[in-house]
Order: sequence, then structure tokens, then C-alpha cells
Amino acid sequence: MTKGYDAVCAFVNDDINADVIDVLYENGIGLVALRCAGYNNVDIKHAYKRVHVTRVPSYSPNAVAEHAMALLLTLNRKIHRAYNRTREHNFSLEGLTGFDLYGKTVGVIGTGKIGRAFANICKGFGMKVVAYDLYPAPDADFEYKTLDEIFKEADIISLHCPLNEETRHMINDESLGKMKDGVAIINTSRGQLIDTQALIRAIKCGKVGMAGLDVYEEESEFFYEDHSNNILQDDALVTLISMPNVIVTSHQAFLTKEALQAIAQTTLKNMRDYFDDKVLVNEICYRCEEYGICDMGHTKNCF
Ligand code: NAI
Repeated sequence: MTKGYDAVCAFVNDDINADVIDVLYENGIGLVALRCAGYNNVDIKHAYKRVHVTRVPSYSPNAVAEHAMALLLTLNRKIHRAYNRTREHNFSLEGLTGFDLYGKTVGVIGTGKIGRAFANICKGFGMKVVAYDLYPAPDADFEYKTLDEIFKEADIISLHCPLNEETRHMINDESLGKMKDGVAIINTSRGQLIDTQALIRAIKCGKVGMAGLDVYEEESEFFYEDHSNNILQDDALVTLISMPNVIVTSHQAFLTKEALQAIAQTTLKNMRDYFDDKVLVNEICYRCEEYGICDMGHTKNCF
């Protein structure tokens, strides 16, 4: 399918594994231009010296951060339930009690572009922000803590770190056990940050009071497709969707007009630069991942 082409354009749930890369390489594809920021779906070690990989490192951090807050507000103030009730002329308040966000402690895990934007929104609500990041920002106006301290202190935990071997299933039985009873978990980052079965167990016993999930471990099977005429075969997803204190959205946190425009512009520029033999400033390689930026420093291509 890729024979005769020079580049391919891929999105978050396209699996660019070693086998796919071998085929792309054999077919003469020189560039995989990702239309997204995260690149955990690409075997970047295998891609090295075979095909260049570019991404859109930032398009609208605010879009994702605002969606994270939308999930939190909806869950906490039960807007999803109230919406359904009033449509059926049910004006009862039973079960709709939330809590003030003002004065609550929010734990932000990953304080890059999106985590910082989310922290700012939370500050606007009068919340106390505590954060964890491998590389704390020197100019942060919130306190960094250890992960364990965050698990212990936070009323709300929002995930904004990338998915990698270190962060996969960082929310699991053990970490959930350290959290406050009734904690709210918001995940707009990557589904595999959470061990879904552990989350379901924690919701069932009340440890987790609400979960807002824009991403899901097995989302590539379902998200971005209409399955409304099918019986969903993923029991964990069905269980989550059936819970009144869980909201699942289908990886749409990025979906604003501004973000779409920025994604298109940067992706087209990445491709243009490749065809014009210019430096690929948005290239990513496995060495960039290890050291923040590889020794080519984006003044030359990664290989
Ligand atoms: P970023 O690269 O600006 O920030 C990521 C932060 O995570 C960095 O500060 C980094 O030091 C930190 N980090 C790395 N490893 C960590 C670890 N083990 N523990 C804690 N922190 C760690 O990325 P950005 O733009 O803020 O995006 C964050 C994530 O959001 C992306 O990796 C992607 O998975 C997700 N995303 C989701 C979207 C959606 O539509 N739901 C759209 C865009 C991004």
C-alpha cells in the first residue's frame, strides 16, 4: 500500500511497530509524520536509521487541559446525570451532591505543557496544586512532591505524563491503595498509565470516587469508530461505561478548532521540510527520548 510513496502520515492509535517499520523501509518510505504529540505507538528504536519520525510536539495544551477540567467538573457536579434526568422531566436532586473544588488538593503528574496548563486552571478554581515530574520546572508556582506524597494528599489526581516503560500502569492496586478514599482520577494522557482492572476494583470498593477517562488501555479497538450497532466485546470498557461515577470520552481532549489548525500546519511543515531537505525540528528518535533531545540538537536530523 505504501509502495510508490515517500512519506506516511499517522495518528495516535496507528501501530507503527517494528514489522510495520520494516515494510515502510522496504517500500522506500523515508518519513512517518505523526499528527500527534505522543509517540508511544511508534517503535522509535527500530525506526532509528530506517525512517525519520516527526511529531507535533505542541498544538494546544489548553485544549487538553480544559477537557481534563471538563471531565472533573462534569463528574463532580453530576452534570451528565442531571442532563439525562431533566430531559425526562425528573427534577430530583437525589444523588447529585458534589463537593467544592475550592480548597481541594489536586495532584498533577507530569508538568509539561498540558500539566502546567491544567495546574493553572486549577489555581483559578482556588485549588491547592501539588505535582510530580521527573524534571521539575524551576519556575513552577506550585509545590513538587514525591509520588507517594501525592497519592496520600490529593483529592484529585490528573495524569499528564507520557506513556513509557516507567509510567505504564503507574496507577495500579498498590498506588491506588495509597490514595485517599473517594479520590477522583482524571486521565487525558494515555490509557496504559492505568491498570484498568485495578481501577475497576478500586471504583467498586469506593476507593476511587470518580474517574474521567479520555483514554483507555485498549482504545485502539474502538475509539474513533461508531460501534453503536455492535455488542461491545470489551467487558472492562462496558463495565466502566456502565458506572455512574465514570465518564469515558473517546480520546477527544485535543479536539478544538485551534488545535486542529495547529496540528495541520505543523504536520504539513514537517513534511515540507523533509522534502526540501531542511532540518526536521520536530523529529523524535529514541536518543531524544532518553536525553530530552539527542546530540544532533535539532540543528541536524537525528540520523
Ligand atoms: P510534555 O512533553 O510537554 O510534558 C510531559 C511531562 O511529563 C514532562 O514534563 C516530563 O518531564 C514528564 N515526565 C516524563 N516522564 C515522567 C514520569 N515517569 N513521571 C512523571 N513525569 C514524567 O507533554 P504534553 O504536551 O504536556 O503532553 C502530555 C501527554 O498528554 C502526552 O504524552 C500525551 O500522552 C497526552 N496527550 C493527550 C491528548 C489527548 O487528546 N487526550 C493530546 C495530546 C497529548
